[in-house]
Amino acid sequence: MKYFLPVIYGLLLVNVVVAQELDPYNYSIQKTFRGRNGAVVSAHPLASKVGVMILKKGGNAIDAAIATKLALAVVYPAAGNIGGGGFMVAHLNDGRNITLDFREKAPGRAHRDMYLDSAGNADLDKSQYGHLAAGVPGSVAGLFTAHTYARLPFRDLIAPAIELAEKGYSITEEEAEGLNSERENFLKYNTTTTVFTKNNPWKAGDTLVQKDLANTLRRISKRGMKGFYAGKTAKLLVAEMKRGGGIISRKDLRDYKAVSRNPSAFKYKGYDVVTMPLPSSGGVLLPMMLKMTEQFPIAEYGFHSLKAVQLMTEIERLAYADRAFYLGDEDYYKVPVAKLTSDAYIKERLRLYKPDTAGNSKAIREGSVEKESEETTHLSIVDNTGNAVSITTTLNGGYGACTVVGGAGFLLNNEMDDFSVKPGVPNMFGAIGGEANAIVPGKRMLSSMTPTIVLKNGKPHIVAGTPGGTTITTSVYQTLVNMIDFNMSTFDAVNKPKFHMQWLPDILFLEKDFPLEVSAALEKMGYEIKRRGQIGRTEVIKILDDGTIEAVGDRRGDDAAEGF
Ligand code: GLY
Repeated sequence: MKYFLPVIYGLLLVNVVVAQELDPYNYSIQKTFRGRNGAVVSAHPLASKVGVMILKKGGNAIDAAIATKLALAVVYPAAGNIGGGGFMVAHLNDGRNITLDFREKAPGRAHRDMYLDSAGNADLDKSQYGHLAAGVPGSVAGLFTAHTYARLPFRDLIAPAIELAEKGYSITEEEAEGLNSERENFLKYNTTTTVFTKNNPWKAGDTLVQKDLANTLRRISKRGMKGFYAGKTAKLLVAEMKRGGGIISRKDLRDYKAVSRNPSAFKYKGYDVVTMPLPSSGGVLLPMMLKMTEQFPIAEYGFHSLKAVQLMTEIERLAYADRAFYLGDEDYYKVPVAKLTSDAYIKERLRLYKPDTAGNSKAIREGSVEKESEETTHLSIVDNTGNAVSITTTLNGGYGACTVVGGAGFLLNNEMDDFSVKPGVPNMFGAIGGEANAIVPGKRMLSSMTPTIVLKNGKPHIVAGTPGGTTITTSVYQTLVNMIDFNMSTFDAVNKPKFHMQWLPDILFLEKDFPLEVSAALEKMGYEIKRRGQIGRTEVIKILDDGTIEAVGDRRGDDAAEGF
């Protein structure tokens, strides 16, 4: 048994709390929590526990979200990060709904054809691995912007993460498998030796210590945003770029800013749904899909009935056809959002829907509008004063670019692959795009991340989100329909098998445990079916009318629900 002794960085109080409440060498995974004071659901039990410690210490949901996110950057290196980006949707207890965009940006030296070889072919190795795959990270800017709404000093929120990085923590079996499976990539795409490889394979219970990361977090604690975007960390990052042929510059880092955006907000069955606008495609697709669903008596069809799955599949196809053509960063490309989400367009689009038969993605193209205008991670948090936070962040692929900034200890994202590197060439999620999502310096790549809050009578009712690349939006869509239309328990809404259709490829993806008889019937209708591994890792909190908080971490990973 090792002891997790507090380290004194002038933060004795928080560290004593850490020592008392967090044993990073002995912990279990709790999948559900019911209580009244607050709850945190995230991809790792230690991170969820950190969030609850901060709530107990008097922090609000935003404080807890910042601390949870920073802890994830240590204990969940596959996706938790300071080298990536993400989105935050929050409902504040004064009634405001806010969204923060801290998505990565294309570096100043990026250009449209940067991933094409001399023959004009897309080199996906370059957009998906190594230095050139990285966009300018946004996570740290996002956390400091979010901190405007927090109560506790930032140094208190980052202290648990520093300690977890400095002293180490026992890794789970899933983490061990992840690190082992990326071993070759860690060796191939780094210019320095990283802590993520060792001579023998990783196994559950091994301790992962990240001293360089601890020092970077200390610089952030001391100097704020400048601890990341300037000074030593920036210097190390740019030196790493130079060694590995990357293009992120000091200026790119200095210029990075998180942006507050107007939420994508709409009504569904009497609820107010608040989600992330562009550059999240979710902010357009979720309203499109729910508004299409609203035209049918789907509750009567029943959960996983052939009729409901066929309808939802075709709705997903119609929405994703528009994603590929129209969606991109609105700061750089005019996207007809109002038109795409209008009732008239939804009705017009549904004319293409045919029940009882498989649609055809060759026949279904993007709709006509006037020219008017996998690895990611989610956390859901509520406190007992009416604040709710839904944050999805990403490095893109598992462990991002697999490149660690030498001396700074954090993994870089491979988010550039979320741009359309060449029209019609699928990215790592099989998604295609065109002009709307082409690479432009400073532009944010289109995302699927859909952190969402559903309000009932103006108060938080459901807080939801998930990782999963392009399956994110369909998973959030299905989770909401499961809860609102099929009246399903929070646990089942999270854990029951999901399906996914994204227009191209014209394949209906089903989780391995999706009911056989439904998939056979769908095949008979003409669908090409492909079984695949897990779809999403959905973290959901529901607040019941009597104020009881129900929190559920997805069975599909180490996800954990904690509260008090
Ligand atoms: N990198 C996954 C997403 O943003 O959609």
